[in-house]
Amino acid sequence: YNIAQPETAKLLSYLPGSDEKKQLKERIAQMKSAPIEIPLIINGKEVRTGRTGTCIIPHNHSHVLATYHMAGPKEMEMAIDAALEAKKTWEGTPWDHRLAVFLKAAELIDGPWRSTLNAATMLGQGKSVYESEAEAACELMDFFRFGSYFVKQIIEEQPKAVQGIFNRMEYRPLEGFVLAVTPFNFTAIGGNLPSAPAMSGNTAIWKPASTAIFSNYYVMKLLMEAGLPDGVINFLPGPGSVIGPIAMDHPMLGGIHFTGSTATFNNMWRTVAGNLENYRSYPRIVGETGGKDFLFAHASADVGAVVHAVIAGAFSYQGQKCSATSRVYLPQSIWEDVQKGLIKETKDLKPGNVEDFTNYMGAVIDKASFDNIKSYIDVAEKSPEAQIIIGGGCNDDVGYFVDPTVIVTTNPHFKTMEEEIFGPVVTIYVYADDDFEEALDLCESTSPYALTGAVFARDRLVIADLEKRLTYAAGNFYINDKTTGAYVGLQPFGGSRASGTNEKVGSKHNTSRWMIPRSIKENF
Ligand code: SER
Repeated sequence: YNIAQPETAKLLSYLPGSDEKKQLKERIAQMKSAPIEIPLIINGKEVRTGRTGTCIIPHNHSHVLATYHMAGPKEMEMAIDAALEAKKTWEGTPWDHRLAVFLKAAELIDGPWRSTLNAATMLGQGKSVYESEAEAACELMDFFRFGSYFVKQIIEEQPKAVQGIFNRMEYRPLEGFVLAVTPFNFTAIGGNLPSAPAMSGNTAIWKPASTAIFSNYYVMKLLMEAGLPDGVINFLPGPGSVIGPIAMDHPMLGGIHFTGSTATFNNMWRTVAGNLENYRSYPRIVGETGGKDFLFAHASADVGAVVHAVIAGAFSYQGQKCSATSRVYLPQSIWEDVQKGLIKETKDLKPGNVEDFTNYMGAVIDKASFDNIKSYIDVAEKSPEAQIIIGGGCNDDVGYFVDPTVIVTTNPHFKTMEEEIFGPVVTIYVYADDDFEEALDLCESTSPYALTGAVFARDRLVIADLEKRLTYAAGNFYINDKTTGAYVGLQPFGGSRASGTNEKVGSKHNTSRWMIPRSIKENF
């Protein structure tokens, strides 16, 4: 299973002159040379509906990468039928044969598919080469390898036999099909959400985010090349307003694996609640949603480490990670030094074309996102309670570029302290050192979310206190580290409160959600 160390810990560096860099550059050029056509994939077959949308490059939005076909009600019904039919064979396939598909897919990413997934993610989702390599290549391999290992671990966990009684646990997949609804911001999450249930014998409908269809299609092709049988995962780009309700109206909805907005997830719960009497079983609803992730520093914190964590946490992938640092609480005594550090370190940080491998930041994903982020910057610009000390510039002439932006506010409940922005904007509240307790209470209670959080302190008693006081404020809690970049298997990922059901992707907890165990007692 090759899980000694997550791949994410050993990224390729794409150094100038290296073969891997040359290969990736070539793949990028090839993908840009002519748009491709992306069909739906139902029961292993390509389906074209003629209702189409386009995939563009966020940093060069007039460039079309692909035309994709969109599912309607008919294709959704076909996909559900295909998933239910395929399940009859797939669930009875020995588990090690099922896992072999995903282990093979990991091997292929480590080989010929690496440049394809990276190029598609860089172009389609505007990721820098480093961010893409970290997830579209390494994290996806980790999801496949660790995920397979967790299935094996669970299946091998068996109760004891006692004299005359043979006890067994049979780990059956859910009854029905799984709906996987995936986000734009991680190609690896796109690949993992339908795959994690499939490893346990489930079959899935995969509805990718419209802005990630380009890379997600290549992930689907990769899985097919790795030997995924027809119908096990059905790739269904299309409107959520069509696909979601048909899935949730179906009596054989077995589960939902979701990453996306809290509002959409809440609507799914409501719809499922309204249909409870119609289902064969209670659908398993597993979701990771929004975040308003915090960084809280104590006066004993290492200033350099805080500066680095704010920049990496808030601006990597243009702040479009659900784990991005978005609100910061700093004591007055270190504020001046942190401010100097932030200004110095962001001086040359400009968003640009990620096809230039030296660029740390690219454009944000689309026009709607650009407008939304800009509206928050406008609020800060006009408010007497806020000051933009870094950035604030937005320009969408060629691509959707937003400068890394730091807002300082005197109001701990300022709009940008409380609402999820999903862009490269971080807001800082400076507290008087004597008001440490009050600031900590604010950090705990300001946001409805509880996804990631980071605390910085060198004083050990303070670290222990922060860990305890912020028990429920974050599902992923970092001490003297940034809020982003969880490793599969090492820091299982997910939050509670309005951030989701906390069923930790990259862990056995998530894997177990796609199984309904049967206890078998046999006398002999
Ligand atoms: N797992 C990612 C991170 O930790 C977010 O989905 O940044």
